Amino acid sequence: MAQINDNYLKLKAGYLFPEIGRRVAAYAKANPSAKIIRMGIGDVTEPLPATIVEAMHRAVDEMSRRETFRGYGPEQGYDFLREAIAKNDYVSRGCDIAADEVFVSDGSKCDGGNILDIFGPRREDNVIAVCDPVYPIYVDTNVMAGHTGAADEKGEYQGLIYLRATADNHFSPAIPNQRVDIVYLCFPNNPTGAVATREQLAEWVEYAQANESVILFDAAYEAYITDASIPHSIYEIPGARDVAIEFRSFSKTAGFTGVRCAYTVVPKTVMGHAKPGASDPGSRGAGTSIPLHQLWNRRHTTKFNSVSYIVQRAAEATYTDAGRQQVRALVAFYLENAKLIREGLISAGLTCFGGVNAPYVWVKTPKNKTSWDTFDLLLKEANVVVTPGSGFGISGEGYFRVSAFNSRENVTEAIGRIRRVV
Ligand code: MLT
Repeated sequence: MAQINDNYLKLKAGYLFPEIGRRVAAYAKANPSAKIIRMGIGDVTEPLPATIVEAMHRAVDEMSRRETFRGYGPEQGYDFLREAIAKNDYVSRGCDIAADEVFVSDGSKCDGGNILDIFGPRREDNVIAVCDPVYPIYVDTNVMAGHTGAADEKGEYQGLIYLRATADNHFSPAIPNQRVDIVYLCFPNNPTGAVATREQLAEWVEYAQANESVILFDAAYEAYITDASIPHSIYEIPGARDVAIEFRSFSKTAGFTGVRCAYTVVPKTVMGHAKPGASDPGSRGAGTSIPLHQLWNRRHTTKFNSVSYIVQRAAEATYTDAGRQQVRALVAFYLENAKLIREGLISAGLTCFGGVNAPYVWVKTPKNKTSWDTFDLLLKEANVVVTPGSGFGISGEGYFRVSAFNSRENVTEAIGRIRRVV
């Protein structure tokens, strides 16, 4: 009989969003007339911008003609897209990132999990730090990879370092007072909606330089930054290209959650350490530094065949003048939703964070209820689905997250319903 990866048995019951989906489905089945509004998972609702759709149509037409048909593309992504990304998202902001440091993929969730392939597989290889609360894939993928021990009674895994993000530190955790090898950061933050200032990011870069750590920086929500002083990329910080890998996505920016396109930037100057005696052909001697770019390129070309030509043309269209304007309008629409949610819930007496530079509003539960009790209350009494904060970690207990990704009509209706029951 095949031996399983028994690290999976350490995982808590279910990944957060399917678990919410299961509970909502059970409620909907028992209450078929309930008009449920889903503000749990951050999934976009508005149609793709016209310029993007036109680009997809053109690409489909190309695929229908022998002369312009395309089969496999380069695994790392087509040059036209990698160049557009490097130029528009990085060079234009003064970041020293080249097109061949950009790896196009089908999602940040996948990249965020897959990146662990290029780091030491054993639990003792790396000290890994995550924020708490945290986007659950960072934790669950480390558990699956065997980088942790079992979960304790609070649901935290032995071996991981948890960096607490609380209202007291404005949901931006302090730099650890110990050395870590890998640290996950996400700004604008999912779930709290917090942002990191230039000074805070500079401290992280300095820490990583001093400790030879790698920062895994999730910037999936950078398009929602409204405050001009907040960096959109970790590479806006001098020195970051030596210590950071950045994940970005077209999902929340251009409405691509169902289209699938993202990218990961691995600068050639970020290094990892090969153990003394690591068995690699000749030249790599004992304990040398190896560029992570080399390993990620190897991984990507071995395990991935990139994103379809049609989708990459769609992503490229987000950088045209018209595409840029339409994407900005889409982001502005969701940001207005966030503002309405935030203001509506504050006026109902709730304490809210985020929702200004992020599409998520992080809300203190009413009357000190637990996160899941509040989830149940809102599902059953208001027929509104939110995400229980404790699903993101123990510091999320006592909070719930409201996603601004919805129609204006649903947002307005949901705020009214929540206000009536809290
Ligand atoms: C979320 O709701 O946190 C995100 O939509 C989940 C994801 O991007 O995978």
